[in-house]
Amino acid sequence: MNSDIESILISEKELDDIVTNIADQISRDYAGKRLLLLCILKGSVVFMGDLMKKVKIPVEIDFMKVSSYGAATESNPNIKPKIGLDISRNDLSELDILIVEDIIDSGRTLDYLTGYLKHKGAKSVKIATVLDKPERRDPRITLTPDYCGKTIPDKFVVGYGLDYNEKYRALPYIGILSPEAIAKK
Ligand code: IMP
Ligand code: MG
Repeated sequence: MNSDIESILISEKELDDIVTNIADQISRDYAGKRLLLLCILKGSVVFMGDLMKKVKIPVEIDFMKVSSYGAATESNPNIKPKIGLDISRNDLSELDILIVEDIIDSGRTLDYLTGYLKHKGAKSVKIATVLDKPERRDPRITLTPDYCGKTIPDKFVVGYGLDYNEKYRALPYIGILSPEAIAKK
């Protein structure tokens, strides 16, 4: 185990089970639909790769990077799409979009993004996330993921795509970062 990790919250095996379970639900729920898996960079890239291999129906994939500028003081004014959807997708009306996310914290990123995609005309917009920290939700935002691997307490976690200052993304498990590691940055 990496020495900066205090404890393992979700093991590699448990993550595999979580993704299999979500993929099975998606395969059932989206049968006969035109499903677009939309990966939110960078944290969701590991989940995306695992999920798309396990979904048993045809999928299209795309990526978005959303940047948030500083602490938001109002609803969502500081969140902007940085890399957009593929340019060929100016018509979203045929697409059932499933946002693939690593973790939901305040909910501001996904609240903004679901509104943006619906405004652009997507047929439907749903959310799959590995983790949810509902205790951290911005009280102005009511957002519940449609598919969620695990609800966790208010702890800072890394691994399986999740980073702290761009580190630890490649860990195959999800762990709680030690206070020492947080302090040394
Ligand atoms: P929010 O829901 O808009 O507040 O932001 C969610 C984003 O914050 C995630 O996609 C992560 O990039 C980041 N994030 C939130 N909590 C954690 C954590 O515990 N570890 C690593 N990144 C996190
Ligand atoms: Mg993220």
